[in-house]
Order: sequence, then C-alpha cells, then structure tokens
Amino acid sequence: MCGIVGYVGYREAFPILISGLHRLEYRGYDSAGVALVSDDGRLNVQKCRGKVADLENFTVSKDVSGHIGIAHTRWATHGEPNDVNAHPHYSESGNIALIHNGIIENYGVLKDALIENGYTFKSGTDTEVLVQLIEYVKTTNNCSLFEAVQSALKQVVGAYAIAVVEKGNCDEIIAARKSSPMVIGVGEGEYFLASDATPIVEYTDRVVYVNDGEIAVINRNKPLKIVNLDNIESRVDIKKLELSISQLEKGGYPHFMLKEIHEQPKTIVDCIRGRVAADGSNVVLSGVMANCERFLQAKRIVFVGCGTSWHAALIGEHLIEDLCRIPVEVEYASEFRYRNPVIGPDDVVIAVSQSGETADTLAAVELAKKNGAFIFGICNVVGSSIARATDSGAYIHVGPEIGVASTKAFTGQVTVMAMVALTLARAKGTIGEEHFREIANGLLHLPALIEQAVELDAQIRDFSKMFTYARNFIYLGRGYNYPAALEGALKLKEISYIHAEGYPAAEMKHGPIALIDSEMPVVAIATRDSIYEKTVSNIQEIKARGGRIIAIVEQGDTVVRNIADYCIEVPTAPECLMPLVVSVPLQLLAYYIAVNKGRDVDQPRNLAKSVTVE
Ligand code: AGP
Ligand code: GLU
Repeated sequence: MCGIVGYVGYREAFPILISGLHRLEYRGYDSAGVALVSDDGRLNVQKCRGKVADLENFTVSKDVSGHIGIAHTRWATHGEPNDVNAHPHYSESGNIALIHNGIIENYGVLKDALIENGYTFKSGTDTEVLVQLIEYVKTTNNCSLFEAVQSALKQVVGAYAIAVVEKGNCDEIIAARKSSPMVIGVGEGEYFLASDATPIVEYTDRVVYVNDGEIAVINRNKPLKIVNLDNIESRVDIKKLELSISQLEKGGYPHFMLKEIHEQPKTIVDCIRGRVAADGSNVVLSGVMANCERFLQAKRIVFVGCGTSWHAALIGEHLIEDLCRIPVEVEYASEFRYRNPVIGPDDVVIAVSQSGETADTLAAVELAKKNGAFIFGICNVVGSSIARATDSGAYIHVGPEIGVASTKAFTGQVTVMAMVALTLARAKGTIGEEHFREIANGLLHLPALIEQAVELDAQIRDFSKMFTYARNFIYLGRGYNYPAALEGALKLKEISYIHAEGYPAAEMKHGPIALIDSEMPVVAIATRDSIYEKTVSNIQEIKARGGRIIAIVEQGDTVVRNIADYCIEVPTAPECLMPLVVSVPLQLLAYYIAVNKGRDVDQPRNLAKSVTVE
C-alpha cells in the first residue's frame, strides 16, 4: 500500500509533504520519511518508524529546508516496520533517493546481481534494490536520472509507483507507475505528486492521472512530460478535480469512521440524486442504460471484489437474481485472478471497489477484459485505476472515505446495486410495476430511514460497554441480511481486534452452534422478511444453549424482544433494502466497542485502507 507525496516549486516543500502524508496515512502507517533537495543541492533524507506525527517530532530541530522533496508513509510488505526499512531509500553513493508503493517481485535476482557488482544493502525491503539499480544504470551508462529510471524499470517485475530525486538537482522529480496509483497536480510554477488527489486538492484542481507503464518528468521550469518505457511521449491530459477540503476533515467528530457513519443519510441522497425519479416511477443509471443489451444478453453476471466490497456484492447477487432472473456469481478478486476462471464474451463482470485501486480487483478486471467480458465498475474514487479500466460503470458518489473500516461506501455500493437491479429488471420485464415502485420509493425513503438508524447512536454507545471484554462474537442473518452479518463481523474484527464470525443463521446447527455458551454474544439480524419465522427459530436454538443475544429487529417487533437479551429496533424498508438499514447499528456497535477498548479506530493495526499490493 503506502502513500507517496512529492512537491517541486517555489514553496517550502516540507510542510506540503507532511500535510500530504497525513492525508494519505490511511494507506499505511508503519513508518514515514522524507527526502529533500536543498537549494544548494544537498540531499537530505529523514525517516523513522511510526506514524507521520512521529516523523514530525523526529524532524523538529532538523534542517528540512528545500523547495523540492518526496515523502512516504509505509505499509510494510518486505521487511519489518523499523527506521532502516522506512522510505525514502537511497543509493550506494547517497546521491539518489527513492520512495515506492508496491512490490518488486524479482528483487532477489536483482539484488544478487548488484551485490556482485559491489553494492551493499542496508534494509530488508524490496524497494532498496530499485534505487541501487537506478544508480548502477546511471553510472555504467553515464546517463541522466530519467534515462536511468526508464532503463532500470525495464528490468523490474512487479508493481510500483515511485518518485526519485537526486543530489544536485533541485528542479526535477522523476516518477513512474505500474499497477500502483499516481496523480500529478499541475500548479503555476509548481507540481504536486501523490498516490491520490487528497494531498493536492488545496493547491490546485488541475490533475493528471499517470497511466500504467508511464514515466513523468516533473521539472518546475518545464511543462510536464510523460513518456512510456519505450520513450514514446503521451499527451498530458489535465483533468479537473472534483473534491473539496471540507470532505477531508473530521468536521467535529472524534473519528472519521463516526463521521462517515453519520454522513450516510446524506451520502445516500448523493448516490441516488438524478438517478431515481422523485415519484419512484423510474430509475436511470446511464452506465447500465447505455449498455443494456450487453447486460441482457449476458449468460451470467460475475461480481469481483474484496472485503467489504465483496460483502456488498453478495447483496448484489441477491438483488439481481431476485429481480432480474440473471444468474450471478460473486468471487473474491484475489481467488478469481489466479484460478483460471471460465469467463468470456458472454459474461458481464461487475468490479466493486471503494478505492478503485485494490490490486486484486484491478487484476481480476484485467483478466476478465482479456477474456472478452464486458466490465462494469462500481467505484467511489473518481478517476481511479479500476474506474478507468472498466467499459462502463456507476460511481457511488459518497465522497472520500477515510476511516480504514468501510461504512458509507458499503451502503453506497448496495444502493447502486439496487439501482442496477431495478434498471435491468425493468428492461428485461422481470419486475411488475408495483414491485418496481415499491423498491424505487424505498430508495427515496432510505435517507430518512438511515437517519433513524443513525439516531440509535446513544443507545448503542451505552450498551456497547457490556461487550467491551467479550473475546468472540457471532453475527447471524439470513437471505439479504446474511451479507450484512458478514459485514458486521468484519467491522468488529478490524477495529476492535475481537474475533468475530458471520454465519447464515440456519447454518449454525451444522457446527458453529458448538461454540455457544454464556460467554458468546450473538448478534442476530431478525427483520420481518420472508423467512422471519425461520430466523426466529434459529435464535431460539441459540437461546436454548445459553447464548447472549443482541437482536436487530424492526420497530414494533415483540416476538424477538421476548427472546433476545438486547434489542435494537430499526425502521422498515423493502426487504431487499433492509441490509442497508441494519448495517448502521452494526457499524455503530463495532465503533463503540473499539472506542471502549481504546483502539485506534481510523487506523487499526496491520491494516491500510487501499490495498494496492497483492
Ligand atoms: C473494509 O472495512 C476493509 N477495510 C476492506 O475489507 C476493504 O473493503 C477492501 O480492502 C476492499 O477495498 P476497496 O473497496 O477499496 O476495493
Ligand atoms: N514493498 C515496499 C516496502 O515494503 C513498499 C510497500 C507498499 O507499497 O505497500 O517497503
């Protein structure tokens, strides 16, 4: 993962780099570092283990002057998180410094060859090999830094977004990418470079998304130059950035995650705006409408995604099979890409990704594309790699999600999937008018229902205290609510570090029920859907074995109230939209348990928001 930032221009680089690293800290926070070239050409590398704030403390009384620099916040893949392994890495002579996001897969052979040529290695990272290789090429060929980077990258197998600076050159950064994201901000006499646009937004709204296999020569005195590894120049395509700074701040909330949970009534409005007619008579999703035949001719639809996006896809499967009668499969992108799947021109692949940068999902898209499938993307980040790699798509429009635990993106993804299903179902004639309007009106009412669910905040905060010390949790749901149970369990795991599992409620009796005792809290989603009575029986089976039941029920439910130890009441939506409503109290429950335990909610251990490595 990792976040990379760069600046060259007329301002002091260090404060820009540090604030950029803070914005990108969601991508990794094992260590941080910066390399600056001072106006008299000195190359100054400062780095340390820990978060960006640790780097700030570390550099407090150090010279960090200069108008050009690169900076990095790390999520370690190769080599433990320590001072030495922190980026930037520098070359044998100390003349070149480099930051890297990605993995150099053939670093072993390259390293051996460089050692034979007298190079020594200080770190345990794959990255160091690249900066040494660049220096080796540069000195043996007596060429420019740009030429050395271009030539070195031809020898590299793997994924990278890199930025390189050199002693004695206070004008130029050389940057390149393959399979890891990179965006360049174009100002007046200055350039910005970052893994995403968030560090750039306060300085310029003119950005260039670097494509795979491209190298950028970023010289403050010259127009931006972009070429590929074979030295063919690309047109510099400047795009306008649609992002505001207020979207990147906590807005008075203690954590981004809580802010993002509370934002959901508004983000659903943004997601359905202009797509669902005000009277519920129509749903217009242009990316689907424009390719309707392609969807309707498909033998099946295959969803690919990871983590929360995969959970959303499971709901998408229910929606599309239920409403459109098209066979659907849901695949973990990481499995799909390596298992030689049967996929071809008769398939539509829907790639689901908040960040649009998840390496496995991107690779799955590329594989499916190569095999002739039509690719539709459901992404949040506009202009992201997956969004650009797909044939068509629909953005979820929920604004930047910064908390590592996904919340508003999940509800946005499911909302888009409901709109995809309605659009296709009407086109295919598999939905009656009344049913269509019921769900379309349900979407229109969703923001108000989600608002009511968000108002459960205080109740959930209070009773979460009883579960702070639980060691395990089970989450149960059936039908549309089963993926919501999986998602609730994931939320708890990733931010509280409590072990939690989601199961289809009826599956308990086939094994997991053996885990039930009075120490085991069971979160049971029991909304009044078509299999409500069956779910109630499953809850009884848990109760009979002494489990402690926290039930998520619809307002006015009395049946489950009499069985469960604690009840959380949510408002009623059409059955297929209920997972959206029940997810909110599950997000709040995970959030407050994690807060009670003193966890770092927005930056949980070992995780990073954007998983751009395999
Ligand atoms: C969600 O809470 C997770 N942190 C994670 O599972 C995430 O959903 C997954 O990495 C996929 O990310 P994407 O949607 O950006 O592709
Ligand atoms: N592989 C590099 C390291 O471990 C970069 C990691 C990344 O981008 O996630 O330092």
